[in-house]
Amino acid sequence: MSKTIGILTGGGDCPGLNAVIRGVVRSAIFTHDWRVVGIRDGFEGLVGELQTVELNLPQIGGILPRGGTIIGTSNRGNPFSFPVERDGQIVQEDLSDSVIANFKKAGIDALIAVGGDGTLKIANQLYAKGLPVVGIPKTIDNDLSATDVTFGYNTAVEVVMEALDRLHTTAESHHRALVVEVMGRDAGWIALEAGIAGGADVILIPEIPIDFSAVCAAMRARRERGRRFSIIVVAEGATPLAGEKVVVKSAAENLGVERLGGIGAYVAQQVGQCMAMETRTVVLGHLQRGGSPSSFDRILGSRFGVYAVEMIAAQQFGRMCALRGRDIVSVSLAAAVGQPNQVDPRGNLVATAEQLGINLGRQKVPWSPVAD
Ligand code: F6P
Repeated sequence: MSKTIGILTGGGDCPGLNAVIRGVVRSAIFTHDWRVVGIRDGFEGLVGELQTVELNLPQIGGILPRGGTIIGTSNRGNPFSFPVERDGQIVQEDLSDSVIANFKKAGIDALIAVGGDGTLKIANQLYAKGLPVVGIPKTIDNDLSATDVTFGYNTAVEVVMEALDRLHTTAESHHRALVVEVMGRDAGWIALEAGIAGGADVILIPEIPIDFSAVCAAMRARRERGRRFSIIVVAEGATPLAGEKVVVKSAAENLGVERLGGIGAYVAQQVGQCMAMETRTVVLGHLQRGGSPSSFDRILGSRFGVYAVEMIAAQQFGRMCALRGRDIVSVSLAAAVGQPNQVDPRGNLVATAEQLGINLGRQKVPWSPVAD
């Protein structure tokens, strides 16, 4: 039976979104002869007047290596709390009924929502209201626990690793400490994995509060070994042991979502003082989200796109596709948006870093292998 599928990409963009869109369109057309429409700019395109674009084979030609998303995205526009103007004032209103009505009016049979925690929570709420929805996990932060990894993350780690390689040569030439602030919100995955891959000397993550006396002791020991420069990677959500998370804008100032940033400069100042050395800060910011996806993200995005179409064929709604080991599986959306996926401070990845001599902003914790 012929179907029309809607697809939207919500939240921050990331490399691999176009691979997902291409995977959905190609498998919907080649395997099922279904029609696909893209919904513009995330949930914003479903509220008010429906904003769609036909996704045929010519529209998706050549998009596999492209970063971003050809249908646009937005991290605003939650239909359950949508900003509208009433009597000259901006107030939040629940417009979810209009989303369901728009959806039916457009003759869309099922929705694929590609996004992170925020987008998938909204998708799950719309499912509870009767919308047939399937989720696909996206984020450079890798902070969704129902999947082993999200697409977009691998590319972000590659970008940070390359930056660390480049920063090493200049830090060494000038005998400086370079502090590199990376994204990840409240998860330290990007900082930790890119830091290990890029040979960082100190890695500071949100899951381990920063003890500056431990950081400076490690840097002094390094100096005594004759190494006069250091590379410090700090996740944007990392917090000093005695102190607050550093934000550019609080949640109250930014429609309920904290805008993180500034911890890099704080770390540079603390380290500069205790080490009496020249420090500089590099904020990698949106470079981590832009540009062409890695082969891993192209493959994972393609697999998720194809799998989501098959979930619709099998009527598996209210669920999300996820990578588990080497397989793609379907998990409930409710489980997917439950617990965030954070780095385990006592896990093997952190232990590996510490055994390599990298300081994690604390005294090294003893570790031994676990037999299965
Ligand atoms: O969730 C992805 C992410 O890139 C975070 O790592 C970062 O904190 C946030 O989005 C930045 O969002 P924006 O693009 O709105 O500044």
